Amino acid sequence: MSFPVTRLRRLRKNPILRNMISETSISVNDLIMPLFVCPGTNVNNPISSMPGNSQLSIDLLVEECGKLLAVGVKSVLLFGIPESKDETGEVACGHNSIVQKAIRAIKERFGDEILIVADVCNCEYTTHGHCGTIVDGDVDNDLTLVTLAKQSLSLAQAGADIIAPSDMMDGRVKKIREILDENGFSHTPIMAYSAKYASGFYGPFREAAESAPKFGDRRSYQMNPANSDEAMREIALDIDEGADIVMVKPAMSYLDIIRRTKDTFNIPIAAYSVSGEFSMVKAAAANGWIDEERIMMEIITSIKRAGADIIITYFAKEIAEVLNRK
Ligand code: PBG
Repeated sequence: MSFPVTRLRRLRKNPILRNMISETSISVNDLIMPLFVCPGTNVNNPISSMPGNSQLSIDLLVEECGKLLAVGVKSVLLFGIPESKDETGEVACGHNSIVQKAIRAIKERFGDEILIVADVCNCEYTTHGHCGTIVDGDVDNDLTLVTLAKQSLSLAQAGADIIAPSDMMDGRVKKIREILDENGFSHTPIMAYSAKYASGFYGPFREAAESAPKFGDRRSYQMNPANSDEAMREIALDIDEGADIVMVKPAMSYLDIIRRTKDTFNIPIAAYSVSGEFSMVKAAAANGWIDEERIMMEIITSIKRAGADIIITYFAKEIAEVLNRK
């Protein structure tokens, strides 16, 4: 049936009708808020390129978790800024490493009210800023697996609810699954950054996490933004190695990858709306060029519509506030 019998505008007549036939909805349950933890007490170092976000010492981090819980955001993703760095990222593998201490403090205060996802990578912890151990000017895959596994186990022991490797080494999900299982953490899920692209959108994060590579770039381990078939191979391998949740990152320029993942695999999908996506909106809004709240909700809706079940976003608290108002 076509026009004039069919008129799609009929169902757009008023908000009740529009909401009734809405195909996509956002819930606070979908959201994960990334947070940056640094040494010290009462430290709040604002991240200039990410307005509203700061490096927080553990005491203030715990307070921030309380504020997130108060608006209904029940999950956080932790990144650490260590006291000192080393060649291989060993500083991130100890009982008293920064994120491990933060996890214990948050759990002590909030227990299972909050879900803690621990990012696993070496770039915040190495002097050179690369995601692994350098041999002959490049990251050595298999040597890096050793520190990643060690870091993962230590984070699980500290109380992390989910382990999320973001390094893009081959075989890391398998290695992490093995070490977790061997040490009594067979119930700890792995959220793998499976299709993680070598993206310019990570710029502000590298200021936040002090993790910019000192030489070269990450193109020898992160994916080429031109590739989609390869993303399906990465995801298939991670699922095969034991990933419980797969991730596509960044989100906004990679909605096609999210959709293709949804159509190809039957597994929960996380999408990471990264720092650059956040900062662009904040900058344009600060200039009065866009309606920030409207754009924020439109972006999050598009990521969900593309097929993401879980969305990691620096807007998590602001989105929750909008949802609570409605
Ligand atoms: C660590 C890591 C990065 C991000 C998350 N984990 C940076 C990178 O790969 O350089 C980026 C997150 C963001 O931009 O918000 N490997």
